[in-house]
Parts: sequence; C-alpha cells; structure tokens
Amino acid sequence: MARNRAGAGLGFVGGWSRHVSHGERMPRMPRMQPLARTRRVLWARNGHACRMIVSLASGEEARQAAAERAAIRNGDSDSVVVVTGASRGLGLAFVQQLASRFKGKIVAGCRSPVDAPALNALWQFNPLRLTIEALDVTEEASVQRFAERVREFGNGRVDVLINCAGLLHDQQNGVMPERSLSALDPQIMELNFRVNAVGPALMSKHISPMMVTTRKQGRVFSVIANLSARVGSIGDNGLGGWHSYRMSKAAQNQLTRTASHELGKRGIVVIAMHPGTCDTDLSMPFQRNVKPEKLFAPDFAVTQLLDLIDALEASDNGHFFAYDRTPIVW
Ligand SMILES: NC(=O)c1ccc[n+]([C@@H]2O[C@H](COP(=O)([O-])OP(=O)(O)OC[C@H]3O[C@@H](n4cnc5c(N)ncnc54)[C@H](OP(=O)(O)O)[C@@H]3O)[C@@H](O)[C@H]2O)c1
Repeated sequence: MARNRAGAGLGFVGGWSRHVSHGERMPRMPRMQPLARTRRVLWARNGHACRMIVSLASGEEARQAAAERAAIRNGDSDSVVVVTGASRGLGLAFVQQLASRFKGKIVAGCRSPVDAPALNALWQFNPLRLTIEALDVTEEASVQRFAERVREFGNGRVDVLINCAGLLHDQQNGVMPERSLSALDPQIMELNFRVNAVGPALMSKHISPMMVTTRKQGRVFSVIANLSARVGSIGDNGLGGWHSYRMSKAAQNQLTRTASHELGKRGIVVIAMHPGTCDTDLSMPFQRNVKPEKLFAPDFAVTQLLDLIDALEASDNGHFFAYDRTPIVW
C-alpha cells in the first residue's frame, strides 16, 4: 500500500518494521542521501509481510513534494510553531521571520518576557498570532507551565518546535568555554548540560504529545528542530577545547537521534541543525578570528534554517544538517 503521493512518513522505518508478522524485523531501508535522494522507497503491505518497492523519483520531484508540504504548513492559520530562546539572537530572528513567512500561531518562549523589548515590539503587530511566554528550559515545572500555555494558545496542536535556547558563555556569572581540562568546573559543566541538552529533552517531552501526526490526521509531518553546533560533532572534532559546550551539544545530538526513533513512528521528524557562526551575543567574544564572510547575520542564518525545515523529507528524520543543508557527521 503506497501511503501517500508525496511519500511523507516513508522514512519511519522503525515504526513500520514492527508491523512485520511474529515480531520479525524488516531489513533496514537502504541509506539514502538526505535532502537530495533520487530514489523513492515505498512500503507495501502484503498479507502479514511487508515488501519494499523502490521506484525512481527525481530529486526535483522530491523537492516539489517538500515545497508543497511546507506550503500547507506555512499557509495554515491553525498551524503552531514554538520557539525557545526567543528573547534575542537566532531565536528572535526565528520569530521575526516566522511572523511574515508563516500564517499560523507562534509561541515564543523566553526566561523573562519583560526583558525582551524586540520580541514585545513584534507582539504589538501580531497580538492574535503571537504569544510570549515565560520559559526556563532547565526547570521542568517551567517547561510544564509553558506547555500548558502552548496547549491553550494552539488549541492543543503544535507543528514545529524549534529548540533554540542555548548557552556557550555567561561572563557575568563566570561561565566561559574551557581551553583545557584544567579549567573544568563541574558546576559550569552541569549548567551547559542543563541548558543545551536537558532543556531540549524536556521541551520534546512536554511538547511532542501535541504534535500532529501524519498517519492519523492526514497532515504534513511535524518537526522538532534542535539548534546544535558543529562543535558538538564528535566525528568533526579536529580542534578540542570548549569541553562543556561540545559535550552538552553532543548529548543533545544523541537526544535528537534517540527521539527520532521514538517520535518518527508518530510522524514527527527530529533533526539537529548547525546555523554556522552567527553574529549574536553567543559568538561575540570569539568573533575576532572569524573571517567576515563566515560570520553570518542572524537573519541570513535563520532564512537558511527555515528553508532547511521547509525542505525536509521524512527520510531526514534523525539527521544532523548544516545551514546549507549539507549533512554533518555525528
Ligand atoms: N551564534 C552562533 O554562532 C551559534 C553557532 C552554533 C550554534 N548555535 C546555537 O544556536 C542557538 C541560539 O544561539 P544564539 O546565537 O541565538 O545565542 P544567544 O544570542 O546567546 O541567545 C541565547 C538564547 O538562549 C536563551 N536561554 C539561555 N538559557 C536559557 C534557559 N535556561 N531557559 C530559556 N532560555 C535560555 C537566552 O535567553 P535570555 O535572554 O533569557 O538569556 C537567549 O534567548 C544556541 O542553541 C546555540 O548553541 C549558535
């Protein structure tokens, strides 16, 4: 049974494989080039067994299907996007751009809404579509309260969760990335983990139950996009340093991959995204050695990342992408 024309949901191999009779697992789907695959793989049920039909589909066809799905999500006034860390930097740029390219509702989470003037200014122009809610991603009670507000505002529906809140340094509180093992401080390490790894995990725990599922409701798949960083890649680590940040983003990457198996079965695509080095408070102390052409304006990076989300296919579930859509090794 071909499940739908665009192939949405076809990458959720884990979910389908459990339908094979007598608990027998299906062979894994052949590895495809994320975002640029040229083959379409359809699962067909044949009595108790499943069989795989591989048909040729051009990259252009896949791109068109993704664009159609994005148009449905972006044009639906009932769609809901949740953004964390929305007070400044990339989170703020996400909310700004979503306000114009997306017709649905936006829930912007930040620790102290009264201290987020740019976000509040944006709300003045979009009071019915945007709500700003208090959120500390390190505290489960705060995440729970936030999720309740999301449920009320979004009528129990969330289409996209962008886990943007992050920590690299907090100079006022003596938090700076370490250059060597001798600089390690367990409390600072823990703080990095709480913001960068525990935070997205708690958000996924409390928001994913509201995500619409393709199979049941016939809508385009939902997305959890975790703002990771290339320095969180173990395979790409050729430099060392920044131990706590790297470790916490590597843990977040493991969350992405692990959650992708669980949530993929429900029609949710979970990905990690690297925005490039962006001109925000986070990178400010480290910009000296960055070539101007490699230091992105937040607006530029966020356009790239929203384009990336719009271009996702179900088979991208559980992958790590740079802003330019190139895959990054875990
Ligand atoms: N900028 C880059 O070059 C770069 C590169 C790679 C990856 N990234 C990732 O991209 C994401 C966004 O970075 P950015 O450059 O926009 O950083 P940023 O300008 O420093 O902003 C960080 C945001 O996270 C929020 N935040 C921090 N701790 C929080 C907590 N406990 N609960 C809720 N929110 C919290 C901050 O809120 P407050 O205003 O309340 O502090 C702020 O909104 C991060 O995950 C970062 O790791 C950035």
